[in-house]
Amino acid sequence: MAVMMPTQAVLEQSGALICAGHLVAFPTETVYGLGADATNGEAVAGIFAAKGRPQFNPLIVHVLDLTAAETLGEFQPAARKLAETFWPGPLTIVVRRNARAKISDLVTAGLETIAMRVPQHPIARALLTASGCPLAAPSANRSGKVSPTLARHVAADFGDTVSIVLDGGAAHHGIESTVIDATTDQLVLLRSGAISAETIERATGQRITRSLHDDYRPNSPGQLASHYAPAAKVRLNVERPAPGEAVLAFGRAIDSTGMVINLSPSGNLTEAAANLFASLRAFDDAGVNSIAVMSIPNHGLGEAINDRLTRAAAPRF
Ligand code: TXA
Ligand code: MG
Repeated sequence: MAVMMPTQAVLEQSGALICAGHLVAFPTETVYGLGADATNGEAVAGIFAAKGRPQFNPLIVHVLDLTAAETLGEFQPAARKLAETFWPGPLTIVVRRNARAKISDLVTAGLETIAMRVPQHPIARALLTASGCPLAAPSANRSGKVSPTLARHVAADFGDTVSIVLDGGAAHHGIESTVIDATTDQLVLLRSGAISAETIERATGQRITRSLHDDYRPNSPGQLASHYAPAAKVRLNVERPAPGEAVLAFGRAIDSTGMVINLSPSGNLTEAAANLFASLRAFDDAGVNSIAVMSIPNHGLGEAINDRLTRAAAPRF
């Protein structure tokens, strides 16, 4: 695999690779994505194979704008309002799939719904333009590992199964898009993410049902228990780390004899989200056995950060 700067020639080559059924990893404003032509079942199967991901996990389809999205799914008024307010940007909207949509069934895992988002990142948009097709793109990490926020994270997870990683530097949000079920006018939060539910409620004037830990679980397999897991053991809400234990700090750090990474010394949740996955990877790279995580406030982006950390701390199978 080659990590490449996205010159015009490289983007054209990447678009051609996508059209030929290959995988190209690219930066988005949330995390790096592993992209394939969403209309090509074999290419999409290549994503599952490369990630080692269970096939029942539906993937997010990336398109250039709402007009393109409307050829693939049916937008109710509530869904349209979300799209008009937050696209392009880190919001994924689940709508009823259009029966005539030329999308591989593997992408939607056989569901009658489809998850779509319009990315903001110029390199993601350039790849959409160069390939001319909707891009199925989950986060570009091996299944169950933390999401990549740098091109070299992608390179570390995949060998030659991915031909090109387009290098866009550090992913801005550092945490995945928020996923909202908008198949009906009652919006449901399926995955907390880069835009907080409060922000969405404030901007649209619509209530969002939080279903993260109840019956919606099977519908959004991103919610499987141990998902965003580093190799190290993770302990949450720690006030006193064990001797030598690594510490993932937030705000004013606690005393520790082990490796310390502070997500945000000033206690800024946006900065903490952007640093989260890279920090977990840095602990793994350093070979630590256990990470003590200080408590992180649960408002705003803290909800998404705590969601990912809770998964990272969940029992492994
Ligand atoms: O930020 C992001 O969204 C990144 C970047 C690369 O765009 N992509 C990403 O995709 O995180 P992925 O495939 O790793 O996450 C897909 C999430 C999962 O939680 C999945 O269960 C949910 O979206 N999802 C996809 N299709 C769905 C559907 N039809 N109904 C319900 N949930 C769906
Ligand atoms: Mg992922």
